[in-house]
Amino acid sequence: MSVISFGRGMPSVDIVDMDALEAAAHRAFRRDRAGIAGYGPPAGHPPLRSWIAERHGVDLERVFISNGSMQAMSFLFDHVLRPGDAALVESPTFDLTLRALRRRGADVHGIAVDADGLNVDAVAAALDAGVPARLLHVVPNFQNPTGTTLPPERRRALVELLSDRGVLLLEDDPYADLRFAGTPLAPMLGTAAPDEIVYSSSFSKIVCPGVRVGYLIAPPPVVSALEEASLETYLSANTLSQAVVYELCAGGALDAAIAKAVAGLAERARTLVTALRRELPDARFTVPEGGYFVWLELAPDTDAVALSQELEADQVTVMPGTCFTVSGGRHALRLSYASVTPPEIDEGIARLAAVYRAHRGSVDGTASAATMPAAAGASHDRQGA
Ligand SMILES: Cc1ncc(COP(=O)(O)O)c(C=O)c1O
Repeated sequence: MSVISFGRGMPSVDIVDMDALEAAAHRAFRRDRAGIAGYGPPAGHPPLRSWIAERHGVDLERVFISNGSMQAMSFLFDHVLRPGDAALVESPTFDLTLRALRRRGADVHGIAVDADGLNVDAVAAALDAGVPARLLHVVPNFQNPTGTTLPPERRRALVELLSDRGVLLLEDDPYADLRFAGTPLAPMLGTAAPDEIVYSSSFSKIVCPGVRVGYLIAPPPVVSALEEASLETYLSANTLSQAVVYELCAGGALDAAIAKAVAGLAERARTLVTALRRELPDARFTVPEGGYFVWLELAPDTDAVALSQELEADQVTVMPGTCFTVSGGRHALRLSYASVTPPEIDEGIARLAAVYRAHRGSVDGTASAATMPAAAGASHDRQGA
């Protein structure tokens, strides 16, 4: 039996445009051998910085490139937060954001996520209750781990709510271009005051994670602080990778690379949704319109950590919900469909359903509907929990 992994948020190589990347690498080597052989400026490879500034319609001095956006956000947390400072995050949220904040001693408050993403009323309630937040982290499109998307009215309400309150809005948006259904939504970047928002994105999801190129759009004084951090940490981000990514973008191959990823993800998501409805008809989840993830809510007495360990024995990898929450998530699993082919998805979900039935102590079927959560998101923990 081969391993089927719904575990990692990473595309399998068959939905990555490796030929375009290889051609871009050849062009990078031909164009500027001395440039790619050396260190670069600490804010990033100048032509790529300009390309990013133009793509987002922002001034060049707001762009900071690093070895993946996670690195840039870590620099940002070091700059903005002191131990004990309060930070608001979605709960559930990207597990590595949680870990990075906790490592810095932040007082992390989880804000509930429902089928429409971050509950902005719950943010208001936390602020009104006196939580002295310095920063709010949100993944507005196809959120990791729930796959939910923040609708325009919530985006507007959030920007309005945080305006003039001294809470930095960190819009972490690496999945925006991976939409396979519905209508693209404008980022909050364009509506918030430039000194109140940091926008984060990455080539990890639209090219591939191996390039390790991500970036922030931040207020210029913040960019200056990040440049210091870059210099003191690694002198400059990976010049060769940035030059390759630049050649891919400037040569016009990025759109085709994104289209390839999106087509693959759309088919995988469709297959997963169908398989879940067939095999686990009582489980709750939000059907994603893009990105990588489905958050599967199982019966409340499910122990997701134990279930994920039991699945290992059947060669199926999943992440238990508890990895992504400030508290809670005990009966949920995150499934990534980015690295599994449709046949693997069908086989993997059949295995998952069989192990789940055994886990629930019932040989013949699913839990009764009465024992399932009432609605998607209903079981997510509340802020401050
Ligand atoms: C929401 C979110 N932000 C950031 C990252 C990290 O991106 P990068 O590879 O650019 O460091 C991920 C990766 O899974 C993610 O899900």
